[in-house]
Amino acid sequence: MKGIRIQGGMPLQGKVRIQGSKNAALPILAATLLTNEVSYIQNCPRIEDVHRFVHLLRELGCMVHWQENGIRVQPGGRDDLPCERAEARRMRGEAITGMRSSLCLLGALLGKCGYVTMEHPGGCVIGDRPIDLHIHALEQMGVEFLEEDGLLSARAKNLHGAQITLKFPSVGATENILLAAVKATGDTVITGAAREPEVIALCEFLTACGASIEGMGSPELIIHGGGDLHGTRYTVPTDRIVAGTYLFGCIGCGGSVHQAPWSQMEAVTVAAERMGAQCTVSEEGLFVQAPVRPKSIGHLQTGPYPEFPTDLQSAAMAVLTMAEGISYIEENIFENRFRIAEPLNLMGAQIVLKDGQHAVITGVEHLHGEQMDACELRGGAALVLAGLAAEGESFVTGQHFIERGYENICRDFRELGARITSV
Ligand code: EPZ
Repeated sequence: MKGIRIQGGMPLQGKVRIQGSKNAALPILAATLLTNEVSYIQNCPRIEDVHRFVHLLRELGCMVHWQENGIRVQPGGRDDLPCERAEARRMRGEAITGMRSSLCLLGALLGKCGYVTMEHPGGCVIGDRPIDLHIHALEQMGVEFLEEDGLLSARAKNLHGAQITLKFPSVGATENILLAAVKATGDTVITGAAREPEVIALCEFLTACGASIEGMGSPELIIHGGGDLHGTRYTVPTDRIVAGTYLFGCIGCGGSVHQAPWSQMEAVTVAAERMGAQCTVSEEGLFVQAPVRPKSIGHLQTGPYPEFPTDLQSAAMAVLTMAEGISYIEENIFENRFRIAEPLNLMGAQIVLKDGQHAVITGVEHLHGEQMDACELRGGAALVLAGLAAEGESFVTGQHFIERGYENICRDFRELGARITSV
């Protein structure tokens, strides 16, 4: 059976290179459609979600290929522009099919050609993942939607700017509005915008292409739309969630790790220090010295950036199972993100789920190795962390979930001294 085999209990030590950010690369790849010129996106992570996105761009008529550790995109490199290809697919009743993170093609293709038909993205294991905020915002920009037979069609005869207030700082909705607004007629103001570093990276890319955007990193973005955009060269920032995963891996096993986008990880390093780790910043990045045994963290709440990221909640839970004392986790972003409590309890953890939002973790001295099934990306990575810290051997199946967001989690943890192999 395919999976990841781990001999736990090895202290982790050393340096690991942190890959480019998945959640920055994907909307930026979508944004390359907004110009007919070549763009070169460096430091793209070689992960499944990026490979699938490259396939989608090729389906839309782009010439896309890897060069060194970057991706070169030439929209309309073949006989038709992405729009015509999108139209052709629409006329044939075909829709853009892909994965949840292809949702950012909605804003990009509306900005590029004013229409798109795609499979309704639907929910996933961690939550229903509604898109009401995306739809309501784009409707204010003149987009008309039709949802039928599992397909979502969107068309704008006159895509125009709007004053949009997001009732929740949705990352994806902010990105879709940005991707449409840079090509819309007039100005768009987003109040209550997401402030995640990945949204800032998208704004930086669009600005490098010639867009005019004010308020990057703030909850109010002003986009002066309608200008022509040109190709550019952009380097994707390192992945703060991958860095945080490895940071918590070290805390669970003891040891240290360098190289992380520490300026985007304040809530994460504060949580690590509350667990007893020592985090210091050097020119090489973030250095973490783990405690002999983690301490309980009291209350940990996830929230929109700059609060503690939901994508690292599972990793924190895995570490807190072995902490001294009782910890409380409140998951405020997704409604079903405690799936790993069951396999962790099989390993000897004592986790009680009060409901889909609150977990109580009573720390134990040791976990023992088990066979576990990953069922989603970040939970799967957290099961690997638990296996690294546990006594004895663990086996994690569902590796393909982890490969969606981690280039090579086995290679990276072996760099830190772990005994871990993919079989
Ligand atoms: C992005 O998802 C990330 N994905 C997620 O990372 C991340 O967990 C999330 O932002 C929060 O930071 C990518 O960037 C590809 P949201 P997104 O819109 O855009 C609700 C990973 O592991 N909501 O900020 O889908 C939604 O249900 C992934 O890398 C609505 O109600 O996140 C959720 O509860 C997992 N209506 C909350 O907002 C909407 O129209 C946050 O969603 C949109 C969202």
